[in-house]
Amino acid sequence: MAARRIPLLLSRSFTSSSPTLFSRGRDSSLCRAAAAAAASCGYSTASSAAAAAEDPITPPVKVDYTQLLINGQFVDSASGKTFPTLDPRTGDVITHVAEGEAEDVNRAVSAARKAFDEGPWPRMTAYERSKIILRFADLLERHNDEIAALETWDNGKPFEQSAQTEVPMTTRLFRYYAGWADKIQGLTAPADGPYHVQTLHEPIGVAGQIIPWNFPLLMFAWKVGPALACGNTIVLKTAEQTPLSALYVSKLLHEAGLPPGVLNIVSGYGPTAGAALASHMEVDKLAFTGSTTTGKIVLQLAAKSNLKPVTLELGGKSPFIVCEDADVDKAAELAHYALFFNQGQCCCAGSRTFVHESVYDQFVEKANALAMKRVVGDPFKGGIQQGPQIDSEQFEKILKYIRSGVDGGAKLETGGERLGAKGYYIKPTVFTGVKDDMLIAKDEIFGPVQSILKYKDLDEVIQRSNASQYGLAAGVFTHNLDTANTLMRALRVGSVWINCFDVFDAAIPFGGYKQSGQGREKGSYSLSNYLQVKAVVTALKNPAWL
Ligand code: NAI
Ligand code: MG
Repeated sequence: MAARRIPLLLSRSFTSSSPTLFSRGRDSSLCRAAAAAAASCGYSTASSAAAAAEDPITPPVKVDYTQLLINGQFVDSASGKTFPTLDPRTGDVITHVAEGEAEDVNRAVSAARKAFDEGPWPRMTAYERSKIILRFADLLERHNDEIAALETWDNGKPFEQSAQTEVPMTTRLFRYYAGWADKIQGLTAPADGPYHVQTLHEPIGVAGQIIPWNFPLLMFAWKVGPALACGNTIVLKTAEQTPLSALYVSKLLHEAGLPPGVLNIVSGYGPTAGAALASHMEVDKLAFTGSTTTGKIVLQLAAKSNLKPVTLELGGKSPFIVCEDADVDKAAELAHYALFFNQGQCCCAGSRTFVHESVYDQFVEKANALAMKRVVGDPFKGGIQQGPQIDSEQFEKILKYIRSGVDGGAKLETGGERLGAKGYYIKPTVFTGVKDDMLIAKDEIFGPVQSILKYKDLDEVIQRSNASQYGLAAGVFTHNLDTANTLMRALRVGSVWINCFDVFDAAIPFGGYKQSGQGREKGSYSLSNYLQVKAVVTALKNPAWL
């Protein structure tokens, strides 16, 4: 079963971009279907150019749910409007989805409000809630491959990654928070007086959640898992590029016993549905993942409406530091994975590869070789490491950054252009000689573009790593304990991965310093995002002790 391979993928995550590891997944039924489809399309070997140029493989799944989910029912939008969701392999329409706007957000919030104020969810025991979440996780496992296929179709990420990493990680995350549901508790505190002091950790109420398109399912899980475990109700807005997987899994959550109104899903655009949710007076908490620019907008909307607390997971420009003691082959593999994983569309991508001057030339050679070898093509085909970018907007933006790198004087080693004539494929791109003040070293590119920078000593690389508006994550490659200890404390970022990267287990908190965000998600830390702490003080009469 695909899920059992996850610990391996996580512990060796830096190698998971290698085709050999992904080929372990071919026993899954849809992997077999994809392989058969690939064979019938004439794909025999994984040739990047050929794969992108051929007709796309027919996804082995159909789209069942396209309406809004409000109060446990799939319904049309109030306006009757729909919008298309596109296949990034071609830009063709997959299907049309109900387009939620302010009126639909109102309907969804009313349902969530009623479910919180009057419904069974916050009133059932935490153990009962945890059993429903566990049943949901079992259903996720059972439908692993259909969900993975929908995710790949809508997003363009390799099917093997969806089936072997993302759906199993989503399942793991819900089991993790199911485990927390009945372990949430307050405390008693000794006060300086005749008082009994206790804290109640209460659900916060109606949670508004806005998620992006780069990891649609995982972002759904990071938001919905802890909110449900704490007994809240939810209105979630998916990204307009990727509405499909959340609708599918939400149906399963209701099959598992979730009462109506507890989770409501509104597909739609940011400035309409997203803004209506962020500024809603009846929403008690807002959680957002996406760009720093939009993060600032939703924070303002929250402040201007009812001052709801906000957690933000935003952009990054994460340093990946290759130290002088590095085994260069391994360092280059890990740095390659840190940047290129998920088509480079990761908030925490290791997008500034700092390499010590003593190993720089050797590293560059290896990094180029890896980028040139990277297998790009139809994500439904076996052995594919990189699919298309999400949409034309991101595609154009990345190509613009590549042009700015060339114009700014960085050396384009490989890639630098689109692959094929259809869809949004971009060749794995490597720049060397990158300087800190170039746009490609400062801005979040969100694409398969590696920028390699040279450094001389540790103090210098610490200073340069921290000289960023962002502070999301960092990678460190060294076996020198002193170097590792110095860097882990000096880097002003929310996650430091030492000799690994992108290790995203449910138990590990994630979030940013500086303009990379506010608050932490995952782990026990995320529970506090969805709880209110109430202090209850009772006067004591003739206490036996204080
Ligand atoms: P975005 O931040 O605009 O979109 C993320 C979510 O926010 C989507 O659900 C969107 O509909 C919603 N949204 C947009 N405008 C809104 C508004 N005014 N009010 C409320 N919600 C709103 O990101 P976008 O445009 O998809 O990508 C732009 C850049 O953002 C990317 O190139 C990348 O650099 C960054 N990004 C970062 C992500 C991360 O994981 N931190 C994820 C996606 C994008
Ligand atoms: Mg799509």
